[in-house]
Amino acid sequence: MSETPRRVGVLTAGGDSPGLNAAIRGFGKAAISRYDMELVGFIDGIRGLAENHTRQLTSIDLAGILTVGGTILGTSRDKPHKMNVNGEIVNMVPTIVENYHKNDLDALVCIGGGGTAKNAMKLAEAGLNVIHLPKTIDNDIAHTDTSFGFSTALGIATEAIDRLHSTAHSHHRIVVVETMGHKAGWLALGAGIAGGADIVLIPEIPYEVNAIAASVEERARSGHNFSVLAIAEGALSVKDTATLAAAESLVRTATSPEAKRAAKEYRQSVLSGHRDNAFKLAEELEGITGLEARVTVLGYVQRGGTPDASDRLLGTVLGGAGARHVANGEFGITVAARGQGSEPVPLEEVAGSVKTVPLDHPWVTAARDVGTNLGD
Ligand code: F6P
Repeated sequence: MSETPRRVGVLTAGGDSPGLNAAIRGFGKAAISRYDMELVGFIDGIRGLAENHTRQLTSIDLAGILTVGGTILGTSRDKPHKMNVNGEIVNMVPTIVENYHKNDLDALVCIGGGGTAKNAMKLAEAGLNVIHLPKTIDNDIAHTDTSFGFSTALGIATEAIDRLHSTAHSHHRIVVVETMGHKAGWLALGAGIAGGADIVLIPEIPYEVNAIAASVEERARSGHNFSVLAIAEGALSVKDTATLAAAESLVRTATSPEAKRAAKEYRQSVLSGHRDNAFKLAEELEGITGLEARVTVLGYVQRGGTPDASDRLLGTVLGGAGARHVANGEFGITVAARGQGSEPVPLEEVAGSVKTVPLDHPWVTAARDVGTNLGD
């Protein structure tokens, strides 16, 4: 592209996350005031792009949103190439390309998580000038130090663990607290360490119920007849990890479309069976230790409300950097967080990869250093 982009589309996609509005504002203010661009907001993520559902985004629309939770643009988990349209799954990429040109766009900013990186990649492959800004409370986007939303969610989960301590202590109970995190353990591990949980279970370290029970009993013997256990929603026992791995291998090796569909259904049934893992674990621990157990699922409270200072900062930094990349005609990238700044990473490196917790990560070492049981 020889000229600076004039009209830029902006959308937010995937699960909502604190800091989305800070990023919209960060990008928008820089795009409008420094680069003289016009913005078109798409409502409800990729769906708005497919349905050409737009709203204006002027400087006035960007005012006062820095501290607001959620996203002023709305969001959805739609995929451009597989969208549910009146009950049918349709490839909407050609329609999206048409709408992009109808709106006279020179570029499109997709703000979202790993799924959004994949979708952005599809649109880049279709010839659109796309950049991606990384948001998720799960901190699982590849090649970025972190993503906006994570810091706020970490704070919320930590405060919850703090508060659960006093009730666990008073009732001499095992309190199991489930965090989000999808297939990564960042939230449970970070909040577990910061909140001083006694046991932390993450997907990257399959757990043995007996090892957990032994640590609860050991604590009771040493005078602490309560335990706080943080479990990531994706954490599985050693046995269940093996079952899931077998289901995933079936999906990978299926040779016909029918076999693939059947394998995917089987994998889904395995995953659904694990939805109430925290409750099952609490019951098992009660049975083994004789201590009462209670479960708190933190759920969407981790995603809601005003972003903390770090997420406001990160959204603003990545938003401004994103505007610079668009102005320079640099597309097909994720604007990754790097230290206190940012770095462009090709979308194809980010899309389809997941950043899980490395077993030698300093947080894992720190947890073990302070005697936290990691279920292994
Ligand atoms: O992607 C963030 C996340 O919060 C995951 O941790 C969680 O598994 C998922 O979203 C649930 O979101 P929803 O119910 O909105 O699809």
